[in-house]
Amino acid sequence: MKRRALIAGNWKMHTTVMDACHLAADIAGQCSGLLDRDVLLAPPFTVLSEVSHVIRESAVIVGAQNVCWEEKGAFTGEISPVMIRDAGGSAAIVGHSERRQIFHEDDALIGKRLRGALSFGLLTILCVGETLAEREEGRTFGIIEGQIRNGLAGVEAGQMAKVVIAYEPVWAIGTGKTASTEQAQEVHAFIRNLISAMYEKSIADQLRILYGGSVNQGNVDALMAQQDIDGALVGGAALNAESFGRIIHFR
Ligand code: PGA
Repeated sequence: MKRRALIAGNWKMHTTVMDACHLAADIAGQCSGLLDRDVLLAPPFTVLSEVSHVIRESAVIVGAQNVCWEEKGAFTGEISPVMIRDAGGSAAIVGHSERRQIFHEDDALIGKRLRGALSFGLLTILCVGETLAEREEGRTFGIIEGQIRNGLAGVEAGQMAKVVIAYEPVWAIGTGKTASTEQAQEVHAFIRNLISAMYEKSIADQLRILYGGSVNQGNVDALMAQQDIDGALVGGAALNAESFGRIIHFR
């Protein structure tokens, strides 16, 4: 089963308007001719609209780093799927480990965000991953299963085409420690089997599962060679046009 690769750059809380426009323009330029894969940029909300404008003639997809489930209303500090679309975005990330750990977002809240994003047609990346302590206690698969079952609660089979799962071991994010290709592949295969059990095999076969956690120009090729790794969610290395450029050109 050949799945279309997706390389996503999560800019986190980085970039002013000027930095963002330069970075997006450089990356859009490097994407021309890359017809067999998707490239997604997730800049901060404040520059979504500028980045969307800069990449408008390229195939780059723009997305938000989080999303509320409601269209509008009294939700101070939140951004709705409609606002993301209005700013030129067509995708969103939910459940990033920084949202889970620093802002205490739980599976129920993340599931609500995911369903909201899907109901407005956004391509939605659900992030899951275990902490180092959980891995050392042998709880990795149980943690991942819980995050996926709860996160996808209420998501129907027909909506799964718009769902992407990103496996990001918390201990590998921003630490320079990547999971080995075997560790990553093992969890990706587990996730695909789980989706097959929750939905059906054809949905699992089509699901794109990204790896995230210290992906860089030196390890991307080996990660992408794994059978169940369909792309990458890149943090630090996505802020540099040269390193992200090499990552999107993975071989
Ligand atoms: P990193 O971040 O590539 O800097 O480890 C990945 C992420 O948080 O999505």
